[in-house]
Amino acid sequence: MKPSHSNFKGGSMKVTVVGTGMVGSSFAYRMLVSGLSDELVHIDVNHDRALGEAEDMEHALALELPGIVYAGEYADARGSDFVVITAGLSKMGEDGRLGLAKKNAEIVRDIIKQVSAVAPDAFYIVATNPMDVMTYATIKYSGLAPRQVIGSGTVLDSARFRALLSEKLQISASQISAFSLGEHGDNQVPIYSQVKVKGIALESMLHQMNLSFEQDERDAMTEKIKTAAYRIIERKGATYYGIASSLTRIIRAIHRDERVILPVSVMPQGEYGLDDVCLALPSLVTATGVERIFDLSLTQQEYEALMASAAVLREYNQQLPQQ
Ligand SMILES: NC(=O)c1ccc[n+]([C@@H]2O[C@H](COP(=O)([O-])OP(=O)(O)OC[C@H]3O[C@@H](n4cnc5c(N)ncnc54)[C@H](O)[C@@H]3O)[C@@H](O)[C@H]2O)c1
Repeated sequence: MKPSHSNFKGGSMKVTVVGTGMVGSSFAYRMLVSGLSDELVHIDVNHDRALGEAEDMEHALALELPGIVYAGEYADARGSDFVVITAGLSKMGEDGRLGLAKKNAEIVRDIIKQVSAVAPDAFYIVATNPMDVMTYATIKYSGLAPRQVIGSGTVLDSARFRALLSEKLQISASQISAFSLGEHGDNQVPIYSQVKVKGIALESMLHQMNLSFEQDERDAMTEKIKTAAYRIIERKGATYYGIASSLTRIIRAIHRDERVILPVSVMPQGEYGLDDVCLALPSLVTATGVERIFDLSLTQQEYEALMASAAVLREYNQQLPQQ
């Protein structure tokens, strides 16, 4: 509950994070110290965990920008500008993220029903895996407008793609535009054909730099993007900084009406010949959420891989538990 002693008069942006584990707490901390959000509510089925995170962050805030952070119940989400869903299981088995679908769908269903009743006007940003299926589930279980529900998509995977291209080319990742599309997971599709370095096509760049980038090296790079989470989890137990920055990036784009193109997970309305599925596509993110989806010209092979990615996600969507 919001502390009664608070004389805080901010009100620039209220965020509720549901699930204050590694991802939720890293995201919350990132939001607070960046000053983007000045009111942050932690909700977790493990209320002690939420209390602990909130108290720890309250102390950090005494040294940062003014704001308020507290652990709450669903009623405390009222008036939120953003609700961020990071609750659920994270331990992946042989089926990768998709193997978490059934259990996390039940968790997300339970959460969404409660939180959307008190915060019907918020934007819902979904990180829980399998994130594309959970984004679809959030729309299905809440009855919210699809434009209000945005998955973190492949914002993180595309950042990983850009980081690897930066290593290869020895040019800052900030100069590189590259998307991985489709599922945030094993069936994502890095779009090599549209990689640009400050407007220069990848192939021209390679030619000018006298670099080779054969198919086997591209395949190894694709594998490295797809296996990044597994590698990090094996080494340190979880991934959280990359997703924390991805979630913050999406929220900043909406809040400041930045009109940037991000590969968030959205429900297309016929774009790429797709509907009734959520997956990462290049989306114009504005104050209204996803304003439109852009067509990226894909090679036949990339297009087929994207369709295959959508087909896998549809299968999992069909198995979602009923309302
Ligand atoms: N989208 C991405 O790019 C991305 C990246 C990393 C992790 N993830 C996903 O984010 C999720 C969280 O990962 P994590 O590492 O923070 O896990 P974690 O185990 O550290 O935290 C999960 C939290 O959810 C809480 N929780 C479980 N059921 C709940 C319920 N019904 N209501 C409220 N809270 C509940 C738990 O108590 C726990 O605190 C996982 O599904 C993980 O796969 C997504």
